[in-house]
Amino acid sequence: MADLIIEKLTMRFAGVVALDDVSFSVKNGEIFSLIGPNGSGKTTLFNCINGFNKPQGGKIYFNGDNLLDRRPHNIIDSGISRTFQNVQNIPFMTVLDNILLGAHSRIDVTATLQRWLSQEQREIEEAMALDIMDFLGIANYEQKYMVGQPFGIQKLAEIARALVSKPKLILLDEPAAGMNDQETREIANIIREIKEDLGITVLLVEHDMNLVMSISDRICVLDSGEIIALGEPEEIKNHPKVIEIYLGETADA
Ligand SMILES: Nc1ncnc2c1ncn2[C@@H]1O[C@H](COP(=O)(O)OP(=O)(O)OP(=O)(O)O)[C@@H](O)[C@H]1O
Ligand SMILES: [Mg+2]
Repeated sequence: MADLIIEKLTMRFAGVVALDDVSFSVKNGEIFSLIGPNGSGKTTLFNCINGFNKPQGGKIYFNGDNLLDRRPHNIIDSGISRTFQNVQNIPFMTVLDNILLGAHSRIDVTATLQRWLSQEQREIEEAMALDIMDFLGIANYEQKYMVGQPFGIQKLAEIARALVSKPKLILLDEPAAGMNDQETREIANIIREIKEDLGITVLLVEHDMNLVMSISDRICVLDSGEIIALGEPEEIKNHPKVIEIYLGETADA
């Protein structure tokens, strides 16, 4: 059974049709990438999946549950977490504390206070966060303040915060944006390990074609809110519409 099913999804903002009757499904355990030019609807689709946007039409199912009935914190509870295109870290908190924010699906003052008072709970969550930092190679940054950290570390902390809720599906919105070649190769390895070692399904939005082509099991191409191609990397690379609309454009850039 498919983990995530997107059915005839339509999302409009005033006059803009950001998603137009979009349907596809992501299988449990795969790396599924969404590509397409700027403004083609990739982030809007993430916002629909995690409950930030309420689409005017269509359905989204995750393991049989209809996500459109749920609020963002319930969607995290059902096993879906995400990162953001623009890093969302809090500068004057440590890297560790930023990551620990992901352990809770909502900001609840009473619960937060209870947790801080409960040393045992704090220790369990810290151990989990440190394991993830270790996995991502950023364990040394535990007690450093987020402010002033290199962009690459901030991006990895963002991934760590999404992993600490122990998701079944992670949505990564341009994890390699702003990274150099070396950092991009590291991100590629990390995404593979998220799939292979942690067993988490990955839905990836990314403009770096080498990264997308090298790690994706399947790729869906959006253009102006519509799917123009869907298939394995080889098919997508050779698809005439893709070459014309997307790859042609980046090859010329
Ligand atoms: N909250 C919003 N209000 C109005 N229009 C929006 C909103 N969010 C997205 N849009 C519009 O929807 C379209 C799709 O935007 P979206 O951010 O999903 O594109 P994208 O594929 O993620 O682009 P990029 O690659 O630049 O990140 C764009 O025309 C955008 O201006
Ligand atoms: Mg986007």
